[in-house]
Amino acid sequence: MDANWLDGVEEAARHALPAPVHRYIRQGAGASVTAAEAGRSWDRIRFAPHVLRDVTDVDLRTTLLGSDLSTPIGVAPTTFQRAAHPDGEVAMARAAADAGSVMVVSSNAGSTFVDIAGTGVTWWLQAYLSADRTLTEPLLRRAVDAGARAVVLTVDTPVVGTKHDDGPTVWETTDPGWLRVNFDAGYDDLPGAQKALDLGPHDIEWLSSTTGLPVVVKGVLRPDDARRCVQAGAAAVWVSNHGGRQLDRTVASAEVLESVVAAVGGDAEVYVDGGLRSGSDVLAAMALGADAAFLGRLPLWCLAAGEERVLAMHRTLAAQLTEATRLAGLSSPSQAVGVLAPKPPFGP
Ligand code: FNR
Repeated sequence: MDANWLDGVEEAARHALPAPVHRYIRQGAGASVTAAEAGRSWDRIRFAPHVLRDVTDVDLRTTLLGSDLSTPIGVAPTTFQRAAHPDGEVAMARAAADAGSVMVVSSNAGSTFVDIAGTGVTWWLQAYLSADRTLTEPLLRRAVDAGARAVVLTVDTPVVGTKHDDGPTVWETTDPGWLRVNFDAGYDDLPGAQKALDLGPHDIEWLSSTTGLPVVVKGVLRPDDARRCVQAGAAAVWVSNHGGRQLDRTVASAEVLESVVAAVGGDAEVYVDGGLRSGSDVLAAMALGADAAFLGRLPLWCLAAGEERVLAMHRTLAAQLTEATRLAGLSSPSQAVGVLAPKPPFGP
């Protein structure tokens, strides 16, 4: 396959998927200002590569929250994977397992944790907390029992940002059985099951003690909030604007990542997502200090063509990241902080 085939996967999926599913994956909130500018924000990062260095061996391996992985590129949690492909999360997990990548499983998943874990993938649970926290406990217990290695608390979604559909929505047209199969039957109708509007740092501590797992806080865009997460015991902070699907006009992850990394000060891991589409984008994220980069839409577009296409995505991204790392004069992308060009590039 051509090295740039990833640029065409959204268009390929547009033909393969029912229109409401394609629209659901693609859409941003509001006027989609944030969703539209995510990709371009990575293009603005400039490298100052090293030369005269031995780049014979390039090693992408990393360890995140104690799990050894072949790549710092992970799969972000996304809802409705079974609308993209009947095998949904299980196909996504098989490809991630083959690639040695970590997969974050949405709490909305349409496949059981046991089936996902059966692929052998390293996986983390993504969770929203309900107004009545205790209602979330059975879901958390199922994830722990099935072998989740961390829990990712999404904190940017007190309410779901309004999206504008110019046709029937995925919610109206797809099988409701493709969603939320890891919750107890009737969960959504229970009083207190709605998303919590009063999340606070104490919820990080609660989640950590309830699950015994490291807690990742996803949706942080400010250094002061990042610090509060670390002080409350977060093992990692995940810089994200939810793919532009929550507050529109929110700043791009690339613009704030460096300041969050500085605030965390090495006391926790830092991840990022939003608009990453290539190995060079991942190197840019790591040059700004991220320990790992996650992709939401790209693997979903690939999933529309099946598990093999998702695996091909992982392999292509690994090859691109290896090349970019070598061209930057490094033997690992984990050294990329050193190749960030000074701002403005090389002074006036
Ligand atoms: C998401 N995202 C998301 N996040 C989360 O914490 N729980 C979820 O269930 C979902 N569901 C979801 C569905 C779809 C279709 C998309 C596109 C996104 C957000 C996701 O984890 C991630 O933050 C963004 O997708 C990253 O941006 P890119 O890679 O899509 O540009």
